[in-house]
Amino acid sequence: MPRTEFISTGFYVPERVVTNDELASIMDTSDEWIRTRTGITERRWAANGQMTSDLAVEASKVALDRAGLQPSDLDCIVLATLSGDYFFPGGGVYLQRKLGITDIPCLDVRNQCTGFLYGLSIADAWIRTGQYKRLLLVGAEVHSTGMDLSTKGRDLSVLFGDGAGAVILGPTEDPGRGVLSTHIFADGRYAELLFCDLGGCAHTPRMSHEHLDAGLHFPVMHGKEVFKHASTKMPDAVKLALQANGLTTADIKVLIPHQANLRISEMVQRQLGLRDDQVYNNIQRYGNTTAGSIPIALDECLQDGGINRGDLVMFAAFGSGFTWGSAAVRW
Ligand SMILES: CC(C)(COP(=O)(O)OP(=O)(O)OC[C@H]1O[C@@H](n2cnc3c(N)ncnc32)[C@H](O)[C@@H]1OP(=O)(O)O)[C@@H](O)C(=O)NCCC(=O)NCCS
Repeated sequence: MPRTEFISTGFYVPERVVTNDELASIMDTSDEWIRTRTGITERRWAANGQMTSDLAVEASKVALDRAGLQPSDLDCIVLATLSGDYFFPGGGVYLQRKLGITDIPCLDVRNQCTGFLYGLSIADAWIRTGQYKRLLLVGAEVHSTGMDLSTKGRDLSVLFGDGAGAVILGPTEDPGRGVLSTHIFADGRYAELLFCDLGGCAHTPRMSHEHLDAGLHFPVMHGKEVFKHASTKMPDAVKLALQANGLTTADIKVLIPHQANLRISEMVQRQLGLRDDQVYNNIQRYGNTTAGSIPIALDECLQDGGINRGDLVMFAAFGSGFTWGSAAVRW
């Protein structure tokens, strides 16, 4: 059975940079609070009318260009996002339409900050069985239009940013290379700890003036619980991946954790006993881009020369659901 290799990567973030000081001018927060608690100094916000599929298509074009492929060479699209353009259909078909192609399947993955790893797990299974050979996997989000930007929502709205990362995956016959393993998990007992109430069928009507007045369309989060679970589940998932492949932390060239909070990444690093140069973080510039964060960080890490052929790259993620997981890739 072939393994799955990363043929190329690409990312796109909107032009508009939003600094902590800009947030402090619209809500009661400060650059100092945000930097010391989260490590974030700025994030990007989409322009008016710029949707998740617009970000996704830009990231995809970069990945396609680097692979020397045309959209028509793709045989499958997987889009991970919690912020699709519309409630339905899912965003995958809009990405497909913007790429100017038809007929190939478009799968939408809704696993929040673990979305990219859920998508990778599915893509890997499909590729290994020979079902698809040129699969576009994208993680993309527009959070800026969906958050409570008043002081009431400040615990959450200072964390998140908009952006998209894309990878093109295909089979490799090169033994030892490619995706070595994926491990994905969930625990629905914690679903409401990072949660957006409105939009589904839980309310009749699904949305009313009263709901909006109560702010039920804004996501809410129990930050301390999320922090606690994220900083244990991610290292646990990495340990599982190492164990499954007969590897140790010394074998890791770089761990790319989901960019939730620099303090969480530092906890993960400490628990695994990794050196600074073994962990890649870029949350400082983009905030938490949810499903976009791992592929964006992967692309930046590659462009920085942080990954070479044969290196062991490890991914770990944690997010709403709760969902979490890891993936090990021999580059
Ligand atoms: C959100 C988070 C940074 C808050 O940090 P914390 O250490 O739990 O919060 P602290 O106890 O230091 O501070 C809480 C206080 O800060 C205030 N506060 C919250 N957000 C603030 C902000 N943006 N600016 C200023 N003050 C803020 C709170 O109102 C609270 O004030 P109070 O004590 O007067 O009630 C932290 O819990 C976190 O990062 N959690 C994980 C979030 C995450 O990663 N989510 C995505 C997962 S995929």
